[in-house]
Amino acid sequence: MPVINKIAVIGGGSTYTPEFVDGFIQHRDEVQVEEIALHDIDEERLQVVGGLVERMVRHAGLETRITQTTDRRAALDGVAFVISQIRVGGMAARIQDEKIPLKYGVVGQETTGPGGTLKAWRTIPVALEIARDVERYAPDAWYINFTNPSGIITEALLKHANVRAVGLCNNPLNFTRLIAGLFGVPDGAVFLEWVGLNHVNWIRRAYVHGRDVTPELIERVGRGEMPAYPFDGELVQALGVLPTWYLQYYYYPDRKVAEMQAAGKTRGETVAEVEGDLLRKYADPNLVVKPSELSLRGGALYSEAAVRLILSLVLDRRDVQIVDVRNGGAIPDLPAEGAVEVPCVVGAHGITPLRMGPLPETVRPLCQTVKAWETWTVEAGVTGSRRAALLAMLTNPLVPSADVARRLLEEMLEANRAYLPQFFPGAPSDANRRL
Ligand code: G6P
Repeated sequence: MPVINKIAVIGGGSTYTPEFVDGFIQHRDEVQVEEIALHDIDEERLQVVGGLVERMVRHAGLETRITQTTDRRAALDGVAFVISQIRVGGMAARIQDEKIPLKYGVVGQETTGPGGTLKAWRTIPVALEIARDVERYAPDAWYINFTNPSGIITEALLKHANVRAVGLCNNPLNFTRLIAGLFGVPDGAVFLEWVGLNHVNWIRRAYVHGRDVTPELIERVGRGEMPAYPFDGELVQALGVLPTWYLQYYYYPDRKVAEMQAAGKTRGETVAEVEGDLLRKYADPNLVVKPSELSLRGGALYSEAAVRLILSLVLDRRDVQIVDVRNGGAIPDLPAEGAVEVPCVVGAHGITPLRMGPLPETVRPLCQTVKAWETWTVEAGVTGSRRAALLAMLTNPLVPSADVARRLLEEMLEANRAYLPQFFPGAPSDANRRL
């Protein structure tokens, strides 16, 4: 059986870590991992989450060593894979990112809205520092990014670091499984022409055992036969392709604002409650498997996506997986050096995107606009340029005007001052405390 010597999880105190480790328990017959090093800046969380993970692994009878450390370099030393799942500023910063825009009637949302802009700016300096350590202590490692906004962070790594970076999301797998379920076939029977960016993607065509089922799916949406699918039949008919989950924020921003106002709390506040409950559960010394409440977070199948990717890289499977990589012409109407989320061939050689061709004209303008937002966000996140920052705010499709962009920018930068060394050089910083 192939052996992986060491995997590091940066942000190992995340409530998602048991999900990740569970993936290796499920795939125990295909690969053996000698060590999983959990790194976090929050020692208490690290102990709670690390404790559960340790019990899970023992309970499953695996010999994998689980190590815990607050020393990032020790965690990274000699690893084959780095998983990044950090949250600079913690959940409090996410909640703030959601609440400030809401005052202006704007959805903050940490991957599609101005919340994502600020989350990217808090994260980029830290992600690049991690990358510098990877360059030094594990130059051959794969840096697998889960940290949101995943596409933007991946793009920052691709453009500004010298590591083998790839971004990962569970949504492609969720949709594959959804469609497989509708047709009563295994996942492997489904092929999706998935085009766009992380959380900004459309299924251009869906095939089941080679049969194009796109028209049937569009009809089903029209007949209301896909109740959990949030897009209305007329929209989908007009687009001629199937938008995926996070596009709700761009197609229905007013609905999303109304939902949030009616809920009386933001997603971040809900997630903070879920996390509190999870951590209390994790601390129970009798718990030896991941608890079902973990499914209240949106990351279902995240471990499956991670393990499949790692297995194909290690075992040279050369199968097709949908991940975030440098475009390089895979979608010719998007910048070549930016990140895209497309089907890729994954093997020991690396990750090769399939040439998907031009975007459908019904979705191209939105996709290009969001890419412009991502590009300016990366530039501002790396350089701290105010001009790039204003352009990032302005190009986000959820921001309605230059006036709102300017006000959001000032208020959100100020609120995040402690985490933005690129914008406030010399200001007392909390970011280091969070490394
Ligand atoms: C999905 C998204 C991720 C997100 C996760 C958790 O997997 O693709 O980007 O981080 O859900 O979302 P939540 O709102 O529970 O934090």
